[in-house]
Amino acid sequence: MQGKIRLALTKGRLEKDTVQLLEKAGLNMETIKNPQRKLILDIPGYPLEIILLKGSDVATYVEHGVADLGVVGKDVLLEKPKPVYEVADLGFGACRMAVAGETSLCPDNKKLLRIASKYPKIAREHFERKGQSVEIIEQQGSVELAPLMGLSDVIVDIVETGNTLKANGLIVLEEIVHISARLIVNKVSYKTRRIEVNALIDLLEKQVRIRR
Ligand code: PRP
Ligand code: MG
Repeated sequence: MQGKIRLALTKGRLEKDTVQLLEKAGLNMETIKNPQRKLILDIPGYPLEIILLKGSDVATYVEHGVADLGVVGKDVLLEKPKPVYEVADLGFGACRMAVAGETSLCPDNKKLLRIASKYPKIAREHFERKGQSVEIIEQQGSVELAPLMGLSDVIVDIVETGNTLKANGLIVLEEIVHISARLIVNKVSYKTRRIEVNALIDLLEKQVRIRR
């Protein structure tokens, strides 16, 4: 007999929202709500094991079949595409990928636009589609600082409430794509563990529908 199905969750907000869905579906989520720094968690009463990772690592674990399923932001999947099946939009973690900058800037007039971003691929592809030449300055965080300090003309980043932009005197200049949490499945698991994988997909999708 095969072991438990393994689900990889993105630590933080997406993890909490997924745990809430699973709990509403009747699973006992006590261990994960009190993980005590553990990264592998058993779900008593359901043949499921949950592991906790950073977003891009979730996709890697699912790609290699170490995890059968994963919950990850669409931003991660767009920035680092992986050969996995994206089977459901879970709705939560909703935000926008956007170009943002100072109100005074008219970016279309610039020959070479300097873009600061944690998402170099998404940023590059967006401006390529528009035929705008860009220099991408890759950042690890606090991207909003770059235009304020003169490091870049604009940023490409996630906007959720808009509070970070507002607090730093920036505005959305252009929306690129809608982002939300996606359920992904390993291609082999999808075939060889079809029943268990589909049971978990159905369970999550049902809760998403109830929530809508
Ligand atoms: C994210 C994102 C934006 C902000 C958007 O940053 O990069 O800066 O949240 O949220 P808001 O529109 O609700 O303000 P995060 O807090 O993850 O920090 P980091 O960019 O420094 O990693
Ligand atoms: Mg940020």
